[in-house]
Amino acid sequence: MNESSNRLVNPKTQTEDGLDQSLRPKSLSDLIGQERVKENLRILIEAALQRKEALDHVLFYGPPGLGKTTLAHVLANEMGVNIKITSGPAIERPGDLAAILTNLRAGDILFIDEIHRLGRAIEEVLYPAMEDFALDIVIGKGPSARSIRLKLPRFTVIGATTRLALITAPLRARFGAVYRLDFYDLPAMQAIVERAGRVLGVQVQPEGVQEIALRGRGTPRVALRMLRRVRDFAEVRSDGVVTRQIAHDALDLLEVDALGLDDLDRRVLRAIVEKYQGGPVGLSTIAASISEEPDTIMDVVEPYLLRLGFLDRTPQGRVATQLAYEHLGLPYPKNEQPRLL
Ligand SMILES: Nc1ncnc2c1ncn2[C@@H]1O[C@H](COP(=O)(O)OP(=O)(O)OP(=O)(O)O)[C@@H](O)[C@H]1O
Ligand SMILES: [Mg+2]
Repeated sequence: MNESSNRLVNPKTQTEDGLDQSLRPKSLSDLIGQERVKENLRILIEAALQRKEALDHVLFYGPPGLGKTTLAHVLANEMGVNIKITSGPAIERPGDLAAILTNLRAGDILFIDEIHRLGRAIEEVLYPAMEDFALDIVIGKGPSARSIRLKLPRFTVIGATTRLALITAPLRARFGAVYRLDFYDLPAMQAIVERAGRVLGVQVQPEGVQEIALRGRGTPRVALRMLRRVRDFAEVRSDGVVTRQIAHDALDLLEVDALGLDDLDRRVLRAIVEKYQGGPVGLSTIAASISEEPDTIMDVVEPYLLRLGFLDRTPQGRVATQLAYEHLGLPYPKNEQPRLL
């Protein structure tokens, strides 16, 4: 395990699955924020229910922890159907997918997480399944081999990915609806922390909520993890009540700064600024220089730095902006602009 495996912003851990379940909104109306996506989904659901059809195939994309998996469960609840959960890397052979597909009932949802990691041969099985609700199976070998077509019930694929760009065009074309999830604004983050405090039975003062919401980098999963750590801190160091001061001290101890940046975020920025004079520098070079996975940097670190305006992506590589220098407390080398050309 490397050091970053304990990060608040890490994609998922097994241990908190139980907690995630209790905190997971069950219906669209429980779900805070993402108004545009919710509005679209309401129409999608309503139309499918009226026509008594399966929901159209839906693809969610966006940075980790914004609610893609949650939305898949909410859709299943709202439609009153079963949800079967799998992921791109879990489906190793076409036969694995065939087994899953033949066990689906009409209207069921098949949730495929990390759908960008599906193998090519498996995608080939998925295309006719999504489009024609059919499964082509080859029986026998050599000259006597023949292909038969099995009919499948009408079902719904919900795909989730942090990397829309890695979804092949034919796969993407088979989704009737594609939604991008964006970082949550501060009022939504506050509402999420407040609700979680209630569900978990933690006494959080409004200023404590505010402090966690501000540092939660617009990501429900991060804020919820922070809330748990802050609660621990409040119980051990005080009377269990999360005040502004408690939240502040707990998050400082976790090395999460006022904007929600943690140690890895700062190491990435520092590497660009200190080792590569602010860039441009390639992603893999940055990753190698701080011994991290390029994927982690791309999926987890960069989206938030881009959103803060701390980072620019140029064809030549990543560039740290003046805002990033200011946040790190370093002087911005203004006169070196022509370097970018
Ligand atoms: N809109 C929301 N309101 C309240 N809680 C939310 C909301 N969205 C997500 N959460 C909570 O945040 C956590 C992470 O959400 P979820 O697992 O759905 O994210 P994800 O986008 O699937 O992440 P990943 O890309 O890592 O799979 C869950 O505990 C969920 O309950
Ligand atoms: Mg998920």
